[in-house]
Amino acid sequence: MATQEAAPGTVRLAGLRDVGALVRLYRTQLDEPRRWVTPFPFDRPRLTIVFTGLILARPVLGLVRRIRPGWAHWVLVAESSGVVVGVGFVHLARANDRRWIGRTGLLVAPPERGKGWGTRLKRAQILLCDRERIERIQAYLQGGNAASRRVNERLGLQIRPSGPDDPVRPVGPYLIAEGDVRRLAAALEEGAAHR
Ligand SMILES: CC(C)(COP(=O)(O)OP(=O)(O)OC[C@H]1O[C@@H](n2cnc3c(N)ncnc32)[C@H](O)[C@@H]1OP(=O)(O)O)[C@@H](O)C(=O)NCCC(=O)NCCS
Repeated sequence: MATQEAAPGTVRLAGLRDVGALVRLYRTQLDEPRRWVTPFPFDRPRLTIVFTGLILARPVLGLVRRIRPGWAHWVLVAESSGVVVGVGFVHLARANDRRWIGRTGLLVAPPERGKGWGTRLKRAQILLCDRERIERIQAYLQGGNAASRRVNERLGLQIRPSGPDDPVRPVGPYLIAEGDVRRLAAALEEGAAHR
């Protein structure tokens, strides 16, 4: 595998102390691409409220999931030497057949890209979905997003073009990276056992 191991650091669930860093990181994105994955508001005050709400809601996520599945999010952060260098979102949805889908978003701070953080966050998203009995995982990709494609393919997700049954995104047809969570998690666990 061409990837180097990520720089030392950790990937964990976000806490309230991360909100300021999350807002700053989220605002490093261009306005248009961000709509693809996590279309939260972009201004600082509303973003602060959104991230604070998502983090505070975690203890009651089981309830949120039952009452309003589309409101349930997990937020993961990658941290290096006490600095937040990346964020991974998992947004829950229910498929027509009632199976749970975890829709993921990833963002790594521009100077930290290419060091393996995106892959580590995605791996953590898969394992979290597996623990929480989410059956499928999906990510929306703009066609030219080679880094995101690489991260998803490396971890075993399949890439396909979006179709008429997929949610409408702001800009035309797009790609979907998806996979069966149990199968992806089992492959990760097996890889870890052989390392
Ligand atoms: C996508 C993103 C999260 C990847 O994070 P990252 O920390 O750079 O990811 P990694 O370091 O784990 O892996 C990146 C891989 O993409 C490859 N890559 C990066 N840019 C590339 C390009 N232009 N063409 C081909 N491959 C590219 C890297 O070489 C690396 O693969 P390798 O390890 O086999 O060499 C990051 O680029 C990002 O935040 N982009 C902006 C937001 C975004 O697009 N999010 C995803 C939406 S689904």
